[in-house]
Amino acid sequence: MSQPPGSTSSGFRVVDLIRKKRDGDELSRAEIEFLVAGYTREEIPDYQIAAWLMAAVLRGMTRAETAVLTDAMLRSGEVLDLSSLRAKKVDKHSTGGVGDKTSLVLAPVVAAAGLVVPMISGRGLGHTGGTLDKLEAIPGFNVNLSVERFRHVLETCGCAMIGQTAEIAPADRKLYALRDVTGTVESPYLICASIMSKKLAEGIDALVLDVKTGCGAFMKNEKDAAFLAELMVETGERMDKKVVALITDMDQPLGNMIGNSLEVVEVLEVLRGGGPEDLRQLCLELAGWMLYLGDVSDTVAAGKRKTEELISSGKALEKFRRMVEMQGGDARVLDNPKRLPQAAHTTDVLSAREGYLVSLQCEHIGTACVILGGGRERKEDAVDPAVGIVLHKKVGDRVAVGEALATIHYNSEARAARSKQLVQESCQIADSPLAEKRPLVHRVIGNSGEKN
Ligand code: URA
Repeated sequence: MSQPPGSTSSGFRVVDLIRKKRDGDELSRAEIEFLVAGYTREEIPDYQIAAWLMAAVLRGMTRAETAVLTDAMLRSGEVLDLSSLRAKKVDKHSTGGVGDKTSLVLAPVVAAAGLVVPMISGRGLGHTGGTLDKLEAIPGFNVNLSVERFRHVLETCGCAMIGQTAEIAPADRKLYALRDVTGTVESPYLICASIMSKKLAEGIDALVLDVKTGCGAFMKNEKDAAFLAELMVETGERMDKKVVALITDMDQPLGNMIGNSLEVVEVLEVLRGGGPEDLRQLCLELAGWMLYLGDVSDTVAAGKRKTEELISSGKALEKFRRMVEMQGGDARVLDNPKRLPQAAHTTDVLSAREGYLVSLQCEHIGTACVILGGGRERKEDAVDPAVGIVLHKKVGDRVAVGEALATIHYNSEARAARSKQLVQESCQIADSPLAEKRPLVHRVIGNSGEKN
């Protein structure tokens, strides 16, 4: 029997599935599996999947579709079996933020506590930064390890940080890169499938999710963040993992530095016991939960205290050094961060008036970094690790006329001009400070049996 024009051996035509989602109908398991497998095998082109993704963003997906999509993406590659490693395997993943560099602190701290952290991360997504781009700012650091090498680093060091590969979560590797440049990130269903497919492929026992909310997050309000958190926690629990989600603030950048090299500098500050207070506190909170879920600490509070000890003793920094060495990176940057790529020029963003900084439009600050070259506008773009923004003021701070609010690190005058204007417009200054400070952690979701 001959096939209808354009249909495949499965009987589906991609265009029909795009139209089905466009019209708000539910796709079947077979249809979703066909799309994921076809795209992963490069049988379906980017433009058709981009159209389908946009339809999914605009029309939403059912719980059943989300579960099938997650499962199909997970099964696009292998699921690691790390049962030969005796320690518990624990990871953390963030839904994406600006200046969010906690993963680089958490992996070595938690490994220094005796747990195993098999972290599969992503690149920059939309206006948010990506762990892999930050790690690659360290000269030589290889985020593309084979499964065999990944396993070896985990066995030797306790933590390893890689990207989605052709072997592990290959569907997310392709879909993630496409969503980055097609305005199709902001869907709780697609975010859930992306995050949970790669986390479930890691062979972990427990997972801490950092679900961001605020103007710099993909989920702008707490209700949407809680919906995403519940979706992911449910997905993890269905697969017998211990999962908690912390809804944390992303209404202004985390820490003071935004940009790949600059963020590594701030990570080293935290690993040396310093760093900006918001970043340090969030690292303690997330690590506290990781140690608690990994059964190293009886309570989250005890996990936080243990984390502080691991940082002040230098053990966490030494773990980071070991991981950098084992993944081919130049560990001399730990002692001399000037060895990280440096931008050729800097320019200050000055305050036009005196008063209090009442808002830092966080998404625009992230976009300003992408414009400098710190992120991608097309899939094939190379990221410039050296560029970025250093904030000298955070929300609540007093500012004088002519005082520097931020410094832009740049390599292209044209890009710097656009970026500087965006940062300037992002800083709102008023006569009096805000009445209320937003909390760092808004809520915790998940049946973790928490003991504080
Ligand atoms: N992080 C991911 O891994 N995927 C998303 O879709 C968003 C954040």
